[in-house]
Amino acid sequence: MPVDEKLQQRAAWLREVLQQYAHQYYVLDEPTVPDAEYDRLFQELEALEQAHPDLRTADSPTQRVIGRVLDGFASVRHQVPMLSIHTETDTTAEGARAFDRRVRKELGLSEADAAIEYEAELKFDGLAMNLRYEQGVLVQAATRGDGEIGEDVTQNIRTIRQIPLRLQGKVPAVLEVRGEVYMRHDAFEKLNNMQRQQGAKTFVNPRNAAAGTVRQLDPQIVAKRPLSFFAYAWGEIAGWADQPSTHDGMLKAFAAFGLPVDPHRTVVQGPEGLIEFHQRIEQQRGELPFDIDGVVYKVNSLALQQELGFLSREPRWAVAHKYPPQEQMTVVRAIDVQVGRTGKLTPVAKLEPVFVGGVTVTNATMHNEDEVQRKDVHVGDTVVVRRAGDVIPEVVSVVLARRPAGMDVTPWSLVQQLGGRCPVCESAIVREEGEVDWRCSGGLFCSAQRQQAILHFAQRKAMNIDGLGEKLVDQLIGISSSEEADRAEDEDSAALTAGGEQHELNVGETQALVHTLPDLYALTLGQLAGLDRMGQRSAQNILDALEKSKQTTLPRFLFALGIRHVGESTAKDLAKHFGSLERIMAATQEQLLEVEDVGPVVAQSLHTFLSQPHNREVIRQLRAAGIHWQDQDPAADHPKPLAGMTFVLTGTLPTLSREEAKEKLEAAGAKVSGSVSKKTSYVVAGAEAGSKLAKAQELGVAVLDEAALLALLESN
Ligand code: IVH
Repeated sequence: MPVDEKLQQRAAWLREVLQQYAHQYYVLDEPTVPDAEYDRLFQELEALEQAHPDLRTADSPTQRVIGRVLDGFASVRHQVPMLSIHTETDTTAEGARAFDRRVRKELGLSEADAAIEYEAELKFDGLAMNLRYEQGVLVQAATRGDGEIGEDVTQNIRTIRQIPLRLQGKVPAVLEVRGEVYMRHDAFEKLNNMQRQQGAKTFVNPRNAAAGTVRQLDPQIVAKRPLSFFAYAWGEIAGWADQPSTHDGMLKAFAAFGLPVDPHRTVVQGPEGLIEFHQRIEQQRGELPFDIDGVVYKVNSLALQQELGFLSREPRWAVAHKYPPQEQMTVVRAIDVQVGRTGKLTPVAKLEPVFVGGVTVTNATMHNEDEVQRKDVHVGDTVVVRRAGDVIPEVVSVVLARRPAGMDVTPWSLVQQLGGRCPVCESAIVREEGEVDWRCSGGLFCSAQRQQAILHFAQRKAMNIDGLGEKLVDQLIGISSSEEADRAEDEDSAALTAGGEQHELNVGETQALVHTLPDLYALTLGQLAGLDRMGQRSAQNILDALEKSKQTTLPRFLFALGIRHVGESTAKDLAKHFGSLERIMAATQEQLLEVEDVGPVVAQSLHTFLSQPHNREVIRQLRAAGIHWQDQDPAADHPKPLAGMTFVLTGTLPTLSREEAKEKLEAAGAKVSGSVSKKTSYVVAGAEAGSKLAKAQELGVAVLDEAALLALLESN
C-alpha cells in the first residue's frame, strides 16, 4: 500500500475513533477510555494533519474551534420555517386535558375511540437552532430568527462538543435537525464567576448566557463557554428511505446518528399520561442540571401530525404546558444584613411577600455589597425575584421603569448601613483587599459564629478537647436538632432560614450553657450529665478533657482563638518571635510585620482582633480559668552578633543538618542565601561541596567548615 493511502486510512480511523469516544463522553455521559487515551489519539491526528494538510477534513475533531472574529452573521433563509408552539397557560392538570380535547375534536374522534399516543418532552429554556447535515456532515447551523430568516452561527456551534460534526451510520442525504442550545447550571455559574473576576458583566440567567454566547463574534470565546444541545424536531429531510413514522421514532433515529436527545422524554397514552408527566417533572425540576420553562406534548404519530396541520404559525399537534413562574416582580421594603456562621455578612432584600416558584417569598439574597451596587437595588425599587427549585430566592434585577420618581439612588453601602459594626455582636466589620465579602471580626465573641468558634477552639490541633464534637457543642449553645438541620445548609441559606431573622441570635438563648469560650471551663458535671446522650461517665470524660486542655502551648492557644488568617504555622511564628502573649498583644502593626511570613493582611487581622476589648476580655477569662503555657524569651531579644552577614551553605556537614545550621545562623541574625556572590560573608562547606565552593574560591570569599562555624557562633 502506498504511504499516502496508509496515512489517509490512519487519519480516517483516528477521526472515527475520536468521534466515537467524544460521543460516549459528551452525549452518552459514559466514557469508555481514560481522557489520556483520547488526548493521545487526538494529538496523533493533529500531528498527522500538520504534516499533511491534505488529510484535514471539515469534520475532523481537530476542527471544532476554527475561524476568525466576525463582523456579523450572514442571513440564512430556512428551507422549512421554524415555528413556535402554542402555550397552554393553565398550569393545572386542566391544561393537558384541554389540549387532548382539542386534538380529539380536530381529528373527529368520539369518546368511544382509543386514547391518543403522545410524546411528552421537557421544554428547554435556551434558544432554538437548525443544524443542517448534508451526506452526514454538518454544513450549517442557524438561529431561528423570525422563523423564516435566521443567522449563520456555524463556527460557534461547531465548538459544542455534544454536536457531531459528522453523523454516524446510514444517514439521509439531507437532514436538518432542530433542537435547543442551552447552558447547564454548572457552566453558567462558572461563566458568571469568571465574568465577576474579570470585572465584566454577569449574565442574568442561563438562557441569556447561551444566547449571548451563540451570538459572540469570536469563536475562541465561545469555545471557553460550554454550551449543550438537545435535538427535538427537524426541518428539511431528503433521501431517507426508511424514515420512522412516529415522533419518538425520529428522536431514536437521531440518537443513533450520534445526536443528543433528552432521556426524560417519554411516550404516554391520553391526557392522564400527560398529567402524570407534567407533575413528575415538576417534582424533579429543581434537581435538573438545566432550566426548563415547562413541558411539551406532541402527538406521536407523524401521520396524525400531518392530518392536524397548522393554525397560523403553530402546529395543532403540539403544545407547551407551563409551570407556575419562577420569577415574579415585587417591591423591596428594606435591605438587611445577616451574619453567617463564619462571619460573612450577606445583604438580604426584605420583600413585599410574593408567590414564586411554589412558595411565598419574603427574603432574597443579594450575595454581597458589590452585587447590590451592580444590580443597583434600592429600598422602594420594584425587582424581579427568582426562586428555582430549592435554591435560595435571589434578586435578579431592578425594574427601572417602576422606580419611583425622585428616589435617592446613592449606591447602597454595607458599612454605612451598619455603621461599621456587626449587627449581631457590634464588633468591627472588615473587608480585606481583593475579597468581595465583608466579615464580622468578632470571631468567638459573635454569637452568630459561636458554634464554629467552639469547634475550632476544641479541635486536636488547637486546645485538643477530646469529645467536644458538633452534637455536643450544639446542645451547649442551645441549638435543637431541627435548627441543626437548617445550619447544615451553606452560609447563605443558613442566613435565610428561620424566617430570615438573625437566626443565631434567637437560638434558645435561655438554655444555652455556653455563650463564650470561657464558659466551657465553668461547666459542671451536673450540667453535662443532664444533656441528651450523655451519662455520668461521658460527662466526667469531658470535664477531664477540659482540665487536661488547660496545659497548652502559646502557639496552640493563639491558633485556637480562631483569628482570621492566623493558622497553625503563623501562630508558631508569632510565638517564636514574641515569646509571650503579652508582647503579642502589645505589638503594633509594624512590629507584627517584622515576624517572618506575616504580611499586611495577617498583621491587620491580628491587630483588629486583639484591639477589640471583648476579645481581650475573653483571653483574660480563659487564662483566669487556668489555661497556661510556658513563655519563651522573644527571639527579638536574643543578641544578634551576625546581623548583616550573609552565609551560603553547601555540601554535607558532619553533624549539623542544613536546616539546623540555617536555624542557628538565623537565630544569630545572619541571612542564609542560596547563591554565592561578592556580598557573601562566608561559605560554609561540607563533604562533596561543588560549584558553590569553587565560586567562593574564585571570588575570594572566606570558607568555613562546621567546626569553624560552631566556633564562630560560640565566640559570639
Ligand atoms: S418543538 C413545531 N420541543 O420552544 C414545533 N420546542 O415555542 C417546534 N422548545 O422555539 C418546536 N423545548 O426553542 C419543541 N422539546 C421541545 C422544546 C421546544 C424547547 C422551544 C423552542 C421553540 C419554542 C417553541
